[in-house]
Amino acid sequence: MITIKSDSDVELMRKSGKICADTLSYLVPLCQPGITGLQIDKWAEEFINDHGATASCKNYKGFPANLCLSVNSGAVHNIPNNEPFKLGDCLKLDLVVDYNGLKTDSAITVLLEPVKPEVRMLSETTYKAMLAGVEAAKEGQKVLDISKAIFGARNGLSVIAEFCGHGVGRNIHESPQISNIPRDKDTSLLVSSMVVAIEPIFCLGDPNIYYKEGTWPTYTLDGNFVAHWEHSVLITKDRPEILTLRRDEQWQLLKI
Ligand code: MF3
Ligand code: CO
Repeated sequence: MITIKSDSDVELMRKSGKICADTLSYLVPLCQPGITGLQIDKWAEEFINDHGATASCKNYKGFPANLCLSVNSGAVHNIPNNEPFKLGDCLKLDLVVDYNGLKTDSAITVLLEPVKPEVRMLSETTYKAMLAGVEAAKEGQKVLDISKAIFGARNGLSVIAEFCGHGVGRNIHESPQISNIPRDKDTSLLVSSMVVAIEPIFCLGDPNIYYKEGTWPTYTLDGNFVAHWEHSVLITKDRPEILTLRRDEQWQLLKI
């Protein structure tokens, strides 16, 4: 069942989304060579708590950290560790914030420049595919239309099939699943006041990953880099509202 959010829940989700966005904006400049994922995790927790919210990943199905932090060939859901970041790294920070019971989910890819040109292309293409999915997310469209928009924007990159976008709200993962590869069965209609998390995960090279159900690590088997971008989006009759839009992000100006 896909939940339609009440007006008061939408208001809380706007606040949750703003804290989620502000946390990621705060963390970006802290991602530097020599810094570790565990330090980022601690800074994320402090920032979120200082803003009256909590980090939902912590203890979700036993997840031990406040955010997911995946490096280079790491795909999603990796646990922050003690390994210092280095120049050329492609970091994925994936965060769920809970404000008064309402959750928003957002992920960014942070490049520790200089990175290889193909890695920059990977991140930019994945970002644009997320926005293409967002543009397709409006009342009257189907879940499948979001999948088609994302997939159609992959620009030759491989799509990691194991992970999907999803509804979000009182739970991190609600219906519907939003596959990044179109599936004919995904004919559910989008209705105003649904909130969906749209999250393409693309990679260079082969899309096969290491992943064992019930455990956290995920990485590409051929060692190629992965990018991941995610926003939580409120469906309306017109253009969707990105609840996790960061201050420095001007999606309305982007031509896709
Ligand atoms: N954005 C991630 C997802 O949708 C958040 C997962 S939280 C975790 O799967 F605890 F499962 F890692
Ligand atoms: Co998500």
